[in-house]
Amino acid sequence: MTDIAIIVLAAGMGTRMKSAMPKVLHRVAGRSLLGHVLHAARKLKPSQAVVVVGPEMQSVFREAQSVFPAVRQAIQAERLGTGHAVSMARQVLEGFSGTVIILYGDVPLIRTESLEQLAGLAGKGVAVLGFEAANPHGYGRLIQDAAGDVLRIREELETNPEERSVRLCNSGIIAIDSALLWALLPRLGNTNAKGEYYLTDIVELAASSGITCRLAVCPEAEVAGVNDREQLSGIEATLQQFYRSRHMLNGATLVAPETVFFSADTHVGRDVVIEPNVVFGPGVVLGDGVHILAFSHIEGAQVASGARIGPYARLRPGAEIGEDAHIGNFVEIKKSAIGQGAKVNHLTYIGDARVGALTNIGAGTITCNYDGFDKHLTVIGENVFVGSNTALVAPVTVGDGASIGAGSVITRNVPADALAITRAELELREGWAKRYREMKAVRKAARKSK
Ligand code: UD1
Ligand code: MG
Repeated sequence: MTDIAIIVLAAGMGTRMKSAMPKVLHRVAGRSLLGHVLHAARKLKPSQAVVVVGPEMQSVFREAQSVFPAVRQAIQAERLGTGHAVSMARQVLEGFSGTVIILYGDVPLIRTESLEQLAGLAGKGVAVLGFEAANPHGYGRLIQDAAGDVLRIREELETNPEERSVRLCNSGIIAIDSALLWALLPRLGNTNAKGEYYLTDIVELAASSGITCRLAVCPEAEVAGVNDREQLSGIEATLQQFYRSRHMLNGATLVAPETVFFSADTHVGRDVVIEPNVVFGPGVVLGDGVHILAFSHIEGAQVASGARIGPYARLRPGAEIGEDAHIGNFVEIKKSAIGQGAKVNHLTYIGDARVGALTNIGAGTITCNYDGFDKHLTVIGENVFVGSNTALVAPVTVGDGASIGAGSVITRNVPADALAITRAELELREGWAKRYREMKAVRKAARKSK
């Protein structure tokens, strides 16, 4: 197999997004547009990857690195066209020889299989990825010869009426032998309607050197681009539909699939049941037989098999829920491990904590993990009973088998099997309430009769 390098063009800010953030950093299914492209490309095991960014787009480069640590950047200071953008990557790819795949950072649904096919077709030459457009307006048209190879790509502004009627369009994604690419790029001109160096002209240049450009065709949806937030939501919808169906076909029950939102990396075990209105942020792993009840929000969490979450539960990053544990309504868990079979069923916040197996956390319990400056750890052992409305002021440790009385504020460590209780003494006054009511009633009557 020939070596593969990828170049991802991401220099545009995307003005139609009306955003302070570069377009390719906008997210769908919990992952940036650029992240989706790099994930698809990464599976080709490229030996080199370059992202072409605009000036002052360090954030784009950092995002690329978070997906693909070996990626390098090339900076395109002036936006002079796709051909110019690719030439910015030349120096970075110095010494590389093999197939170069050129991708767009704002075309996130591209599949690895299509890229593989494209690279295979390119061989020592060049291949473009095309699609039949429902509405070809705005796209470059692929002009074919009798054999179906691509003779040239005509940008819409440059087409004659006959070319304009062609519906086979250029996705922009191209695979090309590196030697051929660097030989042809300097020959691109910019005498065209936009005054840009069009990468697409490379096909005609190759043809004039006797190299035919091969064609791979994919569905239009796969190469849909994002220019505005409406298209962003369209891509989100496509992805969600794809993930819902994938998880169902893999053995999860989704009661109302159209109301469940996954991230690209959500891992769902078998016989998982997900009730309506559940959102999964990035980094969630659900074991087999997990039950997620309605209206839960789950992010960066691991849920072991048989656990039950919700309704109305919130699992935040670093939540690790043990086997058969129960996390109930209006409970928030952050950066905490909840032991096997433990129960945290109502109105509770557990943060920066470890809770042992079979421990029961009563309603309204709060780990006071933050002192206004630092976070502190709460460690609760196994088989502990924490009474309702307990405040655990961290750092604090509660030993195995201990009991905490309802309403306690725990500021010192509790030994194993001890009872801890902090409570003002109860005062009881027989008949007081009745006397009070009567006294008030008399006064009210006196006021009225005045
Ligand atoms: C391009 C193709 C067209 C294809 C269409 C598919 C060319 C000349 N035309 O047209 O055939 O049908 O995409 O969507 O290539 N970019 C840079 N630097 C630049 C210019 C562009 O990084 O100087 C990046 C953009 O951020 C974008 C991509 O390249 O991600 C495509 O550029 P764009 O201006 O959108 O090209 P189109 O006119 O859509
Ligand atoms: Mg475009």
